[in-house]
Amino acid sequence: MPQVKVGLIGFGTVGAGMVEVLINNRQLIEDRVGAEIVLKKIADLDIDSDRGVKIDTTFLTTDAMEIVNDPEIDIVVELMGGCDQAMEYILMAMEKGKHVVTANKALIAEYGKLLFEMAERYGVDIAFEASVAGGIPIIRVLKEGLAANQIKAVLAILNGTANYILTRMTGEGLSFDEALSIAKRLGYAEADPTLDIDGSDAAHKLTIVISLAFGFPFKYENVYKEGIDGVSPEDIRFAGEFGYCIKLLAIAREVDGDIEARVHPAFVPLDHILANVNEAYNAVYVEGDFTGPTLFYGLGAGRRPTGSAVVSDLIDIARNQVKGIARRVSPISFARPPAKELSLRPMDQIVTDYYFRFSAVDSPGVLSKISGILGANNISIASVIQKSRETHGSVPIVMLTHEAKESNVRKSLELIDKLGIVTEKTVLFRVEKKTGI
Ligand code: NDP
Ligand code: HSE
Repeated sequence: MPQVKVGLIGFGTVGAGMVEVLINNRQLIEDRVGAEIVLKKIADLDIDSDRGVKIDTTFLTTDAMEIVNDPEIDIVVELMGGCDQAMEYILMAMEKGKHVVTANKALIAEYGKLLFEMAERYGVDIAFEASVAGGIPIIRVLKEGLAANQIKAVLAILNGTANYILTRMTGEGLSFDEALSIAKRLGYAEADPTLDIDGSDAAHKLTIVISLAFGFPFKYENVYKEGIDGVSPEDIRFAGEFGYCIKLLAIAREVDGDIEARVHPAFVPLDHILANVNEAYNAVYVEGDFTGPTLFYGLGAGRRPTGSAVVSDLIDIARNQVKGIARRVSPISFARPPAKELSLRPMDQIVTDYYFRFSAVDSPGVLSKISGILGANNISIASVIQKSRETHGSVPIVMLTHEAKESNVRKSLELIDKLGIVTEKTVLFRVEKKTGI
């Protein structure tokens, strides 16, 4: 039986998940691949902690270079996270002719172009199924399953931690901090959870999705990004009153030859396909020109689903090795740049529905002053709720609008927030309509 030898750098949540899959499903994997996937070495800074999987402790080292330099190792799996050091190990491994598997979305989103060029130069594969949406095989879907389609739109929940926090805040009224600490304990959060909360992690994943769906290395800094740190229990409550919930969405849409790329919390109608994606689950809605709407759903974070995604890449590369081939599918999914590269649609040009929460003094004529400014900027109101006096003499006025242009919205809110009757900065959420499913 042929053997494919693997070295793992980073024996944390995902690393331990990967090892668990390899141990538990060893026979099945051998049968599927026609080769034995042999884990030869594991590097981690801490080789004393119990990772919950039984391994031969002589495999362990604190020096990742032992893996990079081992001539017997065919595939290096990078699961340590972070950019600089991880990049160094990956480049050295490629230079030595080793294939690379990684779950590191930050690295692929920010340095994918360079990494893909290096993989090409050294004739090795770089695989990153675990980098987007955990256990959902969305990378393979975009590279292979939907390869016959022009992708028109992607609408997704791509961060398990943020979705977990919003679900628990909505369902049980947990505080933001309580929900975050549970997400950390369950292994969903990044080593630096700011990335989950401020939208960066979802933006990293959206960058990868756009690159594969549209065939050019999309720049991470071109994704518009807002996080969930501004989502208050008050807005969650008002969303419910209007028949919506709040989700952190990652959106890529082709509009008249441009591409919209944005990550932000949004009002999602309760009968929308994404409204019932809860806890650490992710979902990716993809519209192809021939398939029409498709939906992919599953756990987006955590040791077991992500471990499964990593091992699926090992299986893919091992199968290639058995057949004596490599680089069957380009890492960016297009063998050459597409004939037409889309340009980025600036955020102030997007058109969508909006939710506003104004805080205003409780006096006659307030609503007409606000609606006057909105009307003068082509923003029409779909519904309004005005509450009775709450604190400090100020009242919330919440409204949903019909479709409006973001630049008009920004202009209006700037004027409204300068009115003497407005007591706090107005809160804004974008509102999604129902999808084709
Ligand atoms: P962890 O922090 O649990 O694991 C990373 C491990 O790598 C730690 O044990 C860390 O040690 C070790 N490490 C750090 N630097 C080195 C080094 N130079 N040499 C050897 N080991 C090192 O992270 P996760 O497993 O959660 O995440 C790993 C990667 O997978 C990240 O890129 C993350 O974004 C990605 N990912 C995570 C998912 C999840 O659900 N957790 C899902 C999908 C992707 P120490 O703790 O001592 O620093
Ligand atoms: N921190 C990430 C999340 C891990 O919560 O989605 C999975 O990529």
